[in-house]
Parts: sequence; structure tokens; C-alpha cells
Amino acid sequence: MTKKVLIKTYGCQMNVYDSSRMRDVLAPLGYDETTSVDEADFVILNTCHIREKAADKVYSELGKLRDMKEARATDGREMLIAVAGCVGQAEGGEIIKRNKGVDLVFGPQTYHRLPELMKQRAEQGRAVVETEFQVERKFEGLASAPQAIGSVASFLTIQEGCDKFCTFCVVPYTRGAEFSRPVAQILEEARKLAAKGVREVTLLGQNVNAYRGEGGNGPESLAGLVTRLSQISGIERIRYVTSHPRDMSDDLIAAHASNEKLMPYLHLPIQSGNDRVLKAMNRGHSVSHYMNIIDRIRKARPDIALSGDFIVGFPGETEEEFDDTLKVVADVGYASAYSFKYSPRPGTPAAEKTNQVPEKAKNERLARLQSLILQQTATFNASCVGKTFPVLLEKPGRQQDQLIGRSPYLQSVHLPSDGLKIGDIAPISIKAVGPNSLSGQYSPIT
Ligand code: SAH
Ligand code: SF4
Ligand code: F3S
Repeated sequence: MTKKVLIKTYGCQMNVYDSSRMRDVLAPLGYDETTSVDEADFVILNTCHIREKAADKVYSELGKLRDMKEARATDGREMLIAVAGCVGQAEGGEIIKRNKGVDLVFGPQTYHRLPELMKQRAEQGRAVVETEFQVERKFEGLASAPQAIGSVASFLTIQEGCDKFCTFCVVPYTRGAEFSRPVAQILEEARKLAAKGVREVTLLGQNVNAYRGEGGNGPESLAGLVTRLSQISGIERIRYVTSHPRDMSDDLIAAHASNEKLMPYLHLPIQSGNDRVLKAMNRGHSVSHYMNIIDRIRKARPDIALSGDFIVGFPGETEEEFDDTLKVVADVGYASAYSFKYSPRPGTPAAEKTNQVPEKAKNERLARLQSLILQQTATFNASCVGKTFPVLLEKPGRQQDQLIGRSPYLQSVHLPSDGLKIGDIAPISIKAVGPNSLSGQYSPIT
């Protein structure tokens, strides 16, 4: 009899990738995926610890799940509950102390051992916590399994972990030290994806451009890996995320000029536009270093769309220092960007600071920054109207004979199907800008 698993994913793309690999691991045990909690025999929360709100969500969700589990027990039906991901890694045994309904806790580096952990849970009759770091073995354990995907665009994790220790960030503690998968393993996975109809891969890593995977003749850079991936037939588009300014090497910038398959889009977080704040954040780069990269990448690929991340209200940030962040945004002109209020995270150096910025100031700064970013996104989207660019068609739209695709600049594009099908990369001329997407029309080159 098949059983059902519900995997709820929070946080970054890496968690999305991990959730899809958990599905692969569970399929041989007879688990099918469901999106309904009522149907689920097994619920996995794949969690995020990056900000307080993200972690809090997990505990409120677990409260509801425990109630459901207890209600079911009265009819003799079982429900297994697991906490995976970064909250699992950071809080470990604390989770089962706070919520007695939880059966399994494991981190991002141990989910390949899920069958074994489930067996252990059944045999010992009490909750199992497993938070060891074993990245290498995880990928070896997963390498043979192709992802269960039904999409033409897919994530592919190539690098994990972080050695940079920005003073605000939990990632080095939840994902562990930097690790790069060997080139051969990545190429094998990409070939399998291509054979399943994938046309676009997004290479993932917390510091994806710090990639230094074993390439056969010593370590390979991200630019080298991209070159090798672009030789796989079927793979037409390559993206990578998230990059760190310190690792934005010359060969990677040059690849944007020479490699047609590398999409003209770069997510390059600066976090703050003020050098004193950047230093206190331990970012290891200055504003001028960042602006220099932006200049060089625009020279290499003039149409590149830029994106970034910003934190407002880092401990000690003054109004003037925040204004420097607005100035950077104004100077760069982003196609899109993410901005967050600083959230103190247990165990990180910045959380210990006594000069925390009051909530009211953080709210005001966030509102000002977000309104500027929104304006820039609107300007960028408007500049696309009248242009024609290749769109990868990813899924059916809500309306009849409508398709939804992705532009090279990562915008969602809606269009009438006009005989096109999912997986096609077709020239689409952009007609209008909607609230969250563009709309266009097939415009064959004659
Ligand atoms: N490795 C990436 C970012 C990973 S975390 C990089 O170095 O750029 C994603 C984003 O969450 C960060 O870029 C940062 O903007 C935000 N973030 C991380 N820790 C945070 C915190 N304590 N409070 C608010 N935002 C945070
Ligand atoms: Fe976090 Fe900094 Fe590492 Fe990015 S580089 S994951 S922000 S510690
Ligand atoms: Fe969150 Fe972990 Fe990703 S903390 S952002 S899920 S690496």
C-alpha cells in the first residue's frame, strides 16, 4: 500500500532542492507525495532559521500538527512528524523538548539517511535527533538518484555551506563549512535532468561563486563548470545563485560575455551601502569593490539584470549610514531586490551588540528602501515593453490556451499558446506589464 508524504518547504532555493531529493529518498519506501495534510501519513517541515519569523513559524505549525496527530491517534491512525532543514540543525533536541509530537529531527546534511532514521524511530519508540555534518556522504548517497521532477527548469546544488561568517548570519552554523561537489557528479546529474526534458538549470550554493569542485585535473571554478555544463546537449540555459562579491572572479565575469547559455542575470547581495556597516558585518568587501564589479559585469554583458539583498537596521546603523544604502540602490538600478529588517539570531556576534536599532526605525527604513526598489523594478519591467526576447515556456497559465514562461531576466511572462508548447524557447514580444509579470505574444522571426 502506498503511503503519503507532505513536505512543506520554507527558506531558500537550497531547501527546495533538498525537498525534491527527500522525495527521491522516500519513493523506494512506498511514499507518494501529497499536498493535503489530511491525507499525509508523514509530514516533513523543511525549515529555515535565517530570521526569527521564519523559525517561529515552525513552532506554530508544529503545534497544529501535534493536535492533528493526537486527534488521529484516537482512530488508530498514525502520523509521523519530522523537522528537517536549518531549524532542525540549529535547535536539534530542543525541538522535541518543546513539542512532544515530533518524531524526527535532522539537518540539511543528513536527509539521505532518512530511511535509517525512520527505522530507528520505529524500533526505539522515541524521537530521533540526527544533526551531524556529512556533506560528502550526503551527495554520494544521493548521486545515483535522478530527481523526481516534472519541470523544464530545475535547481542543481553544486556547493553548500559557508566559511565567511558575516556577523548577522546563521548559515555557517546550520549548513556547515564550504563544500563543493565534484564536477563529474554535477555533470552526471545535469545529463539526467536534460534526459528528462530539463532545459534550464539554476546552480545553487550559499556562496555559489566560491565553487572549487574537483575537476579531474585539480579544482574547477564556477566559470569552468559553467563551460562544461553548457556542452551538455539539451541544457540551453544556465543560472547561478547566490554569489558573494568577494568571489566574483574575472573568469566568471568574462563568461557572461562569451557564454550564450549563461543568462544575463546576477543576484549579488551587498547588504549595506556603508563601509563602516559592511566592516561590522564582516562582509570582507567595501562599497567601491562592489561598484567596481557592477561596472565590469555591465561592460561584459550590457543587458544584464541585477538583483541583491539588503539588511536595514543592523546594530549601530545610523540614519546617514542607511542613506548610503539608498544611494547604492539609486546608483546601481536593480531589476529586483530583497530587503530585510535585521533580525538578531542566537549565537551570532551581532545579536550580542547592545546598540540594537529600535523596531520603529527599522520599519521606516525598510519601507523607504522597498519603495525605491519597487520603483526600480517597475522601471525595469516597463523598459521591456516593445522588446522581443527568448522565453522558456514552463507551465500552462490559468486561462485557456495560455502559457507561462521565464524571460532571460527571470521575469514571469504570460502569453497565448499560439501552437507553442512547454519546453520551447520562443521569441516573445513583450506587450504589457502586469503587477507580477509581463505579457507578450509569440513573434517568430521572419
Ligand atoms: N549567502 C548569501 C545569503 C544567504 S542568506 C550571501 O552571502 O549573500 C539570504 C539573505 O538573508 C542574506 O543575503 C541577507 O540579506 C538576509 N539575512 C541573513 N541573515 C539575516 C538576519 N539575521 N537578519 C535579516 N536578514 C538576514
Ligand atoms: Fe551568511 Fe555571509 Fe555566508 Fe552569505 S556569506 S551565507 S550572508 S555568512
Ligand atoms: Fe534558511 Fe537555511 Fe536557506 S537558514 S535561507 S533554509 S540555508
